[in-house]
Amino acid sequence: MKASSKKLSQISPILVGLMGSGKSSIGRRLATRLDLPMIDLDDYIVAKAGRTIPEIFEQDGEAVFRQLETEALAEVVGKPAVIATGGGAVLSETNRRIFKAHPPVIWLKATPEFLVKRIDGDSNRPLIAGGDTLNRLRELADIRYPLYEACADFALPRCDMKKSEALREILRFLKKWRKQQEKQ
Ligand code: S3P
Repeated sequence: MKASSKKLSQISPILVGLMGSGKSSIGRRLATRLDLPMIDLDDYIVAKAGRTIPEIFEQDGEAVFRQLETEALAEVVGKPAVIATGGGAVLSETNRRIFKAHPPVIWLKATPEFLVKRIDGDSNRPLIAGGDTLNRLRELADIRYPLYEACADFALPRCDMKKSEALREILRFLKKWRKQQEKQ
């Protein structure tokens, strides 16, 4: 099917961004609006592995988690769905290639200062288990911002923005993006 005849519901957006940026919650709202299923990549990995993310990190290490993440992404991408990825999915070159091949990719761009209030003390996130969440987020942002930037078709600054507003901005972008596709 030509992109020109695509309705919004035939676009399968992928959400990326640091942990706590709202990928899952905004993804769910977006999926409802587009009448699409929502795939949360972390949930998919957990269901497939039969273990929680902290258990996978603890028992097998981050590298194994990253492999599971890449396998999961390859399995779900291309399906008609909104896909919310884990914050570190962008670290893998394979995943970044997948992202580039399956636009549109939407980056929920939130600052560490905004995120720390949302995720501090969350025991389901092994990468912040060591405490000093703000500095940890700053380190992650330094490494990952350029990677998100490189993959994203749209960056939505999330600070001070309500979820309903974020959703409106994303829908506005998707309409614009679809029009651009029609011209190509
Ligand atoms: C991670 C983020 C988590 C999860 C895992 C690793 C990361 O997902 O995939 O704990 O590397 O930032 P969320 O971004 O949904 O919290």
